[in-house]
Amino acid sequence: MWIQRLGRALGQGRRHLHAKIVKGTSIEVQPEPESAASSMTFPGVWLRDNCRCSECFHGTSKSRRLDWDTFDTAVRPLSIRSDKAAGEVHVSWSDAHESSYTLDWLRQRSFDADRQRAYLEDFYRPATRHWAGAEFQQVAQHFDYEEVMAKDAALQQWLQALAVYGVALLRGAPLDEGVVRRLAERVGFIRRTTYGEEFVVQAKPGAQNFAYLSLPLPLHTDLPYYEYKPSVNILHCVVQTESQGGSNLLVDAFHIADRLRSDHPEDFERLCRIPVDWNDIGSEDGRQFHNIWRAPVICLDSEGKYTRINHSVPQRDSHFSVPLAEVEPWYESYSRFVRLARDDAHAFKTRPGDVLTFNNIRLLHGRTGYDDTEQNSRYIVGAYLDWDIIYSRLRVLKKRPAIQ
Ligand code: OGA
Ligand code: ZN
Ligand code: ZN
Repeated sequence: MWIQRLGRALGQGRRHLHAKIVKGTSIEVQPEPESAASSMTFPGVWLRDNCRCSECFHGTSKSRRLDWDTFDTAVRPLSIRSDKAAGEVHVSWSDAHESSYTLDWLRQRSFDADRQRAYLEDFYRPATRHWAGAEFQQVAQHFDYEEVMAKDAALQQWLQALAVYGVALLRGAPLDEGVVRRLAERVGFIRRTTYGEEFVVQAKPGAQNFAYLSLPLPLHTDLPYYEYKPSVNILHCVVQTESQGGSNLLVDAFHIADRLRSDHPEDFERLCRIPVDWNDIGSEDGRQFHNIWRAPVICLDSEGKYTRINHSVPQRDSHFSVPLAEVEPWYESYSRFVRLARDDAHAFKTRPGDVLTFNNIRLLHGRTGYDDTEQNSRYIVGAYLDWDIIYSRLRVLKKRPAIQ
C-alpha cells in the first residue's frame, strides 16, 4: 500500500486533500484535515468504471464508452497521488490505465447515505409530502400563468410544487384553447393518448367517455388501462358552469395508502398485490381501441415506495383474472380504500382562466355533476404531461454543478 500525504503543511480547507488505498481495492479520500467524518470511500471498481478520460468517457454526449466486453471487475488501484492545488486525485490501475478525478466530482458521488439521500430528494426526484384533504388550502400553491410562461424561476417553483404535493394551480390564463399546449410546451411536449393531444371535457351527446357527460364523475385516475399512464393532468377552465356543481374533487391517494398501511395492513397488502384488469373500449376519430392493463390499485417500487395508484369504477374490466379465493377479500379491501378516499376528498370550483395541474398517478380526481344551459356550457380543455419530461426540465432548471 502506498500513501501520499499532501496538504499537511497548509492543512486547511481546499488545500487539504489526502487519499489512500484501503483494503487493497478501495480508495479513501479525506478532503478536510483530520476529520474522519468527512472521509469518503470509493470502491476501485466503481472508480475505474467511471474514469473520465476521453478513452473511457465521451465528453460531448456525456456517456460512458468504456469497453465492457473486456472490463475487469477485479481491477485494483496500484498507486494514488493527490494534487492538492488542482483538487484532484490521480490513480494508476492494475489494468495499466490511469485516471483522474476532481474532489468536487467525487464529493457529489459520495456513497455516504445522507449525501445520497440529499441527491435523491433534491435532484433525482423531489421527496413527496403527503396530505389530508383538510390540508388542501395549505398545500395547493397558486402561480401566475403569465409568470410561469415568462420566468424560469416561476416555472421551476410550479414544477417543484407539483412534484412535492402532486397539485398546483395556475391563475390568469387567457381563455383560448391553446393554453394547455403552450403550457405543456413550456415544459417539454404533450403526452398523446387515445383521446388525442388536447381534449375537451364537455357534456356531449352520444359520449364515448363517461367524463363527457354532465353526471358526477366519481374519484378516479385517468387511463389506468395504460401501462404507460400519462403522469400529470392539465385542466384549463375556459367556461365554468354557473349551475350548482362542476366542482373538482381531489384526494392524495398516497395519503390514503399511508392510512391503510398503518391502520388496515391486510387491506393494504391486498391492494398492493392483487392485479386488477383495467380497461377502456371505444373509438375516437373513427379509430377503434381496446385497452387493457393489469396492475394493483397501489403499486410499489423495490424500496416499498408508491409508484402509482390505479382507481376507476367505470374503467375496471368485468374480467378479473385472479384466483377465486382472492375475489371477495379484494372487494372488501378496495371498498375501504374507496370510502377512505371519498371521505377525504376536497372539493373546489375552478374559474375561467384557472389551470389545474395534478399528478394523475398519485391523486384521485373527480367532479360533481352540473346542469348546462344553452347559454352556459362548462368547457374544460385538458392535456397530459409525463413525469420523465417534467423531472428532466426541473433538473435542467436546477443547474447542478459538475454534472459529469
Ligand atoms: C376527466 C375528468 C374533470 C372535470 O375528463 O377525466 O376528470 O373537471 N374531468 O370535468
Ligand atoms: Zn480512462
Ligand atoms: Zn379524469
